[in-house]
Amino acid sequence: MSTLAGRRVLLGITGGIAAYKGPLIVRELTAAGATVRVVLSRAAAEFVTPLALQAVSHHAVGVDLFDPTYEQQIGHIELARWPDLILVAPATAHLLARLAHGLCDDLLTTVLTATRAPVVLAPAMNTQMWAHHAVARNVAQLRQDGYHIVPPDSGELACQEVGAGRMPDPPELRLACLQALTPPILRGRRLVITAGPTAEPIDPVRFLTNRSSGKMGYAIAQAAALAGAQVTLVSGPTALTAPWGVQRVAVESAREMRDAVFAHALQPGAQAHAVIKAAAVADYRPQHVADQKIKKTPGPMSLPLERNPDILGELCDLPAPQRPLLVGFAAETQDVERLAAEKLQRKPVDLLVANRVSGPDSAFGADTSSVLFLTPRESLGWFGPAPKETTAAEIVRRVALLLDARPAGDDAP
Ligand code: CTP
Repeated sequence: MSTLAGRRVLLGITGGIAAYKGPLIVRELTAAGATVRVVLSRAAAEFVTPLALQAVSHHAVGVDLFDPTYEQQIGHIELARWPDLILVAPATAHLLARLAHGLCDDLLTTVLTATRAPVVLAPAMNTQMWAHHAVARNVAQLRQDGYHIVPPDSGELACQEVGAGRMPDPPELRLACLQALTPPILRGRRLVITAGPTAEPIDPVRFLTNRSSGKMGYAIAQAAALAGAQVTLVSGPTALTAPWGVQRVAVESAREMRDAVFAHALQPGAQAHAVIKAAAVADYRPQHVADQKIKKTPGPMSLPLERNPDILGELCDLPAPQRPLLVGFAAETQDVERLAAEKLQRKPVDLLVANRVSGPDSAFGADTSSVLFLTPRESLGWFGPAPKETTAAEIVRRVALLLDARPAGDDAP
């Protein structure tokens, strides 16, 4: 996965009310490590001042194509060559129309036409304008021309109408930029990813669970979506927000997780190419779930448990034509190499990711971890310690390689 650290982003702002969020976008991108320059259309300068944007970006802000001072600092062709990516947010209907027709009547449209960098457009406007056939036609043309379009959100608009047209918030725009910079190694692939713990009910107020935070599975889902995959994230209870561009299916128990995984992975006509089982599934559940809260009684209490389905085990048993590429996780407190190799014998997944879940480098709840990669043929060695996002990107890279290496005709399970 690409990151925005060290990347050069040119932010173009055109004249809609959402232009007032320009400084917040600059802050979002610079906080992620990008260097940002800003170009405003004349109309945008009515909504947000060049001075404010200069203060947050620490660079002079361009407005006028024929401004000799700005042109002396950085000529418009040099400006078109400078960025790794251009983001136009908000992009008005007028900007979309001019860009779709190759008109270069101001600094921003000239730079957009002269650049070779990927361009992300975030249209924002009144709902009726967004629905207008001319706008729809221009957006379709721009998509076809290779522009990345971030569709507007729905909600209450500045014009007091409710509907599609709101500019997405800065974190979403940052992720759209990241996606445009990430090689689409999983484009056209459908992935089912599980994450988090499961919760096995005891009575209406209690349950059995474990310490999984879900961070690794969520990071993998995000990395896979940025790499172009269509991702379904089957998640046990976590405190995390759904990753961007991912369909999240919330479940509680192992049995619910099993049903959701099979329903999505084996969906007729849309079977998953890969299933990544990062969830920490409870192996046991209480034999009986009490209808009412269990009251305490003197003396000890025991809770009979029974085995939960082994979701990954069942996936491994699928006949070859149905079996997606399988990635399993092993959480060990000791002797990781030996136990992981043994696990691979029992559950013959295509890639096993093993980590340690005790001691100072424990993976549970941590933001960084080391993992050991194994395939049925060989140990691929340790990766990390690295932030979970980096490890997630490495897992995604390995999954893409394994999918690409599958025999032709086998890639659509
Ligand atoms: N898994 C699963 N269903 C279960 C249990 C585990 O799908 N009921 C998956 C996990 O999501 C993970 C892998 O299987 O990808 C873990 O394998 P497992 O053999 O259960 O290893 P551990 O959880 O480490 O348990 P053990 O200590 O029993 O080996």
